Amino acid sequence: MDRLTRTEDGDSTSVEVREAAYWDAQASQISDSDLAAECVKSEPLDECRKRLLGDLTGKKVLDVGCGMGLWSAYLATSGAEVWAIDISPQSVEMAKRRAILRGVGDRVTASVMSAMDMQFPDGYFDVVHGQDIIHHLDADKFGREVQRVLACGGRAVFSENCANNPVLMFARNQICGRWGIPKWSSDDEYPLTRARLKAFSQFFQECTVEYPEFVCFHFVDAKLFRYKNRFVSWACHGMDHLIYCALPVLRPLSYRQVICCRE
Ligand SMILES: C[S@@+](CC[C@H](N)C(=O)[O-])C[C@H]1O[C@@H](n2cnc3c(N)ncnc32)[C@H](O)[C@@H]1O
Repeated sequence: MDRLTRTEDGDSTSVEVREAAYWDAQASQISDSDLAAECVKSEPLDECRKRLLGDLTGKKVLDVGCGMGLWSAYLATSGAEVWAIDISPQSVEMAKRRAILRGVGDRVTASVMSAMDMQFPDGYFDVVHGQDIIHHLDADKFGREVQRVLACGGRAVFSENCANNPVLMFARNQICGRWGIPKWSSDDEYPLTRARLKAFSQFFQECTVEYPEFVCFHFVDAKLFRYKNRFVSWACHGMDHLIYCALPVLRPLSYRQVICCRE
């Protein structure tokens, strides 16, 4: 059975407890100055997501699996009224703190809540947003929940990782976490496979996937060289960019994807 296919409530609950503990520990290392310094970027992945989110003025937006609220604050500064939820209490505290630091504390309501059992009425949100959350969850159950809380005509936009590239998956499974190479993931998550994306998207009228960047050699730089060698950074970025431009057929092997589902 897929580790992330949870058939019993007990199993699902223990996964949530482990996830909360893992992300609480990450959040406890973050200071106010870290929160203030980090901003949503303008790279192709971010710009693609902003385009799909559209004009958010006056919209009710859910940021699901909000983490420390980077995008919750961004969505609020873009004119939305934001509800941000996460299973990790420390992350939620950070999301609240960040919203206050960004001057949008009155537009972000952050709560500890499971994405698998959301305490919102049916059709409550115009837009649902998430970054790196589907691949932490039972995709089928989560898709049903997102569809339920989304208003008729609404849309759900997610930036997710992607399990399509066998070389990257081999490196993730066999190399990361060994020989001093960082892992950067909890034990209960696995990059989003096509099958799980299909399970998530089955509840929507329409689902599109975009690969606005090719992200692959980037990991050589990040994991092996930790961005410390400028030539390596330049070469890895150049390789990814070259593949993106010259071989568009390979774009679905990128580690990053942007998903848009419409009700
Ligand atoms: C990779 S982090 C992404 C955080 C944030 N979206 C970001 O990109 O900075 C995954 C987040 O999902 C949250 N999470 C995991 N399982 C969850 C669940 N069942 N319900 C709500 N949040 C959950 C974790 O606590 C964590 O904050």
